[in-house]
Amino acid sequence: MKICFVFGTRPEAIKVAPVITYMSSLDDFDVVTVLTAQHREMLDQVVEVFDIPVSHDLNVMTENQTLSSLTAILCERVGQVLRNERPDCVMVQGDTTSCFIGGLTGFYEGIPVAHLEAGLRTNDPRQPFPEEINRRLVGPLASFHFAPTETARANLLKENVADDRIWITGNSGIDALRIISEREDAQLCDALTGALALCEGPVIAVTSHRRENLPFMHGIASAIRDILDATPDLNVIFPVHLSPKVRSAVMPVLATHDRCHLLDPLAYDQFVLLMKRSDIVLTDSGGIQEEAPYLGKPVLVMRRKTERPEGVQAGTLKLVGDSRKSIVDHVLSLMNDTAELKRMSRATNPFGDGRTSERVADILRDQLEKRDGEQS
Ligand code: UD1
Ligand code: UDP
Repeated sequence: MKICFVFGTRPEAIKVAPVITYMSSLDDFDVVTVLTAQHREMLDQVVEVFDIPVSHDLNVMTENQTLSSLTAILCERVGQVLRNERPDCVMVQGDTTSCFIGGLTGFYEGIPVAHLEAGLRTNDPRQPFPEEINRRLVGPLASFHFAPTETARANLLKENVADDRIWITGNSGIDALRIISEREDAQLCDALTGALALCEGPVIAVTSHRRENLPFMHGIASAIRDILDATPDLNVIFPVHLSPKVRSAVMPVLATHDRCHLLDPLAYDQFVLLMKRSDIVLTDSGGIQEEAPYLGKPVLVMRRKTERPEGVQAGTLKLVGDSRKSIVDHVLSLMNDTAELKRMSRATNPFGDGRTSERVADILRDQLEKRDGEQS
């Protein structure tokens, strides 16, 4: 069974890596990878950490790419690869442009599409933008929906996805975390060693990149400055996304603060070490919301809505909005509330047990065999 994985950004690569590794270890799967390279350096970092085999690298990234141009070029290039490879199934993950186009071109070429991390919804088309619409569009294109949680399954059922096409598998992002956490040879890179050497008191790890947050990015950076000024022993470590729009908003506000350590994006294993060392994670990321409960870290989410309500219910995530004042108030209040910090750190992980890859492989094998049987 030839399975073609189409992916192109850092978070997709992290979450497909364990599935690719597992399927590649089995005799009955022939794994083909199509790296759109919607991201370049940040994708290459993940390929290196997980030693992901590369069959096709489309290398499409351009500086400040627009959604329309990215969509157009990916449609052409991924379609071409699928026509040549003719896989039995196209596997996509999440909600990026690469994911949506992998699903769309698979559908156009008459190849069954499998969707990892299916069914996440905020039910607001603009939050996150454009991811909420991307993942919704993959719904009708996919034949196999791998939902991480019961909530995700319920979202798909509401959109009339057939019950027998949905499987609750957990999130393969937890497999990635488990694999990295089990590595015993983890060494801090120079950048992180240097930053951590300067941190004596509490540490907050920060990431921010959402397109819908770009208009607020200056305010987000200012909020971090306010928090540092209000807390003399606090250090912030902020690996800044390579998006020029993010960097041009964040750097001028924070680069001159001696307790704010702005780094380039960290390799995944390094970022996990940073989260482990942090007291709080402040982010607008999707994947980090899932990682926090596994690592026992409180996460303050700089968004108005989340597609991961399970984390809020479990008590490990809090939505703090995107305004400077609200972010400052929430962070300072949590830092001063030891009991709440402890409570958030003890929340249980609702996103999986780190064995998603095995489930996905077993289900896909069964389903594709069944399909073959029906067709012959
Ligand atoms: C994209 C995804 C978003 C995901 C995020 C993860 C879409 C529509 N958006 O964000 O869902 O949460 O990735 O980080 O698919 N850049 C580099 N090197 C890199 C990566 C990016 O230079 O390795 C720069 C480039 O100038 C690029 C820009 O960042 O044009 C933005 O990259 P893009 O993939 O378009 O980012 P987002 O859409 O913001
Ligand atoms: N991450 C990383 N290096 C960093 C920051 C984040 O490897 O410097 C990882 C993080 O652990 C998570 C993923 O990248 O697994 C999240 O990616 P991102 O926030 O870019 O995208 P999202 O999850 O919001 O789609």
